[in-house]
Amino acid sequence: MNNQERMLDLILGLPEQMAEAAVIARMARLGRRRRFDKVVVAGMGGSGISGDVARCLLSDVSPVPVFSCRDYTVPVAVTERTLFVAISYSGNTEETLTAFRQAMRRKCRMLAITSGGKLERAANRAGVPVIVVPGGLPPRAALGYLFVPLLVSLERLGVCRSHKRDLTEAVGLMAEHRKKWYNKAKPIARALLDQLPVVYSTSRLLDVVAERWRCQLNENAKVMCHTNVFPEHNHNEIVGMGAPEFLAERMVVVALLDRATHPRTRLRLRHALDVTQDGYVRVVRLESEGRSALARLFSLVMLGDLVSVELARLRGVDPMPVARIAELKRRMARRRGVRPDARIRRVR
Ligand code: F6R
Repeated sequence: MNNQERMLDLILGLPEQMAEAAVIARMARLGRRRRFDKVVVAGMGGSGISGDVARCLLSDVSPVPVFSCRDYTVPVAVTERTLFVAISYSGNTEETLTAFRQAMRRKCRMLAITSGGKLERAANRAGVPVIVVPGGLPPRAALGYLFVPLLVSLERLGVCRSHKRDLTEAVGLMAEHRKKWYNKAKPIARALLDQLPVVYSTSRLLDVVAERWRCQLNENAKVMCHTNVFPEHNHNEIVGMGAPEFLAERMVVVALLDRATHPRTRLRLRHALDVTQDGYVRVVRLESEGRSALARLFSLVMLGDLVSVELARLRGVDPMPVARIAELKRRMARRRGVRPDARIRRVR
């Protein structure tokens, strides 16, 4: 199996990975339930996106807000009433480790999700519950292993209702439609070849899906991708669309739509694309599938993942390695002069 086939296999295996992750998470030791005023999920890249999936999924069902933290430092609002979840697949990402240590000092209720590394060791040393998932994958291909334990933990700790049925639906839907979606992904990838993908989300639920499309197109297909959200787009980006001209001629809009898309937002999409038509080569409209929000969200995640791996094939690039990320991490590890937890001067 070459890397192209391997990545495709990992993407197609997402439903099985999610089902396995649910079993791991239900058995994990988490400690007692407590009232939290917020959940903060720290993580970068392929690990951090799990926090965003939770944020988008739960914003309409849980009164406890979920925030993502993608920096070395944690916001002032992170206190002892915060549930702080550090997610790093490798367990060695310095931003996540630094935020984890800071949250410990703030006396947050802590949880770690990782396949090992320094995060597992730090959590064990501090007596912090840690959910250890199988290792050896590119982090972005471990979305099921990272997101499902987060969701199940939030359920078990009383942050949100049980999503067991929705998870079963999502797993079944993906397993049933994955081949069909792969065929659907092929012409979309062809449309994106040598173009700038511009991915628009049209509801809060799908904001993270647009982000996932961007990250997967970046890392698998090794291309740039622009994202934005509707209706916000209509109040700024609409004016800039079409320039610079050399770019405008090479843009393809991918509009992500869902049952939760407000009818007025659908109308806005139609008119906005009409108003700016001359700048756009093609528009691909994609509707989510499934009943529950979780299943609908993952239907478009899986489609985007498949588009990214197909675009990698069309471009003749290897979807597996992310050489620049690895090189940057190596360089940062050599520069010990500036420590990750160096004090930041307060900006007034
Ligand atoms: C995804 C990927 C990156 C990492 C990120 C953080 O495959 O390679 O986006 O997810 O560099 O690393 P981890 O996930 O190990 O904390």
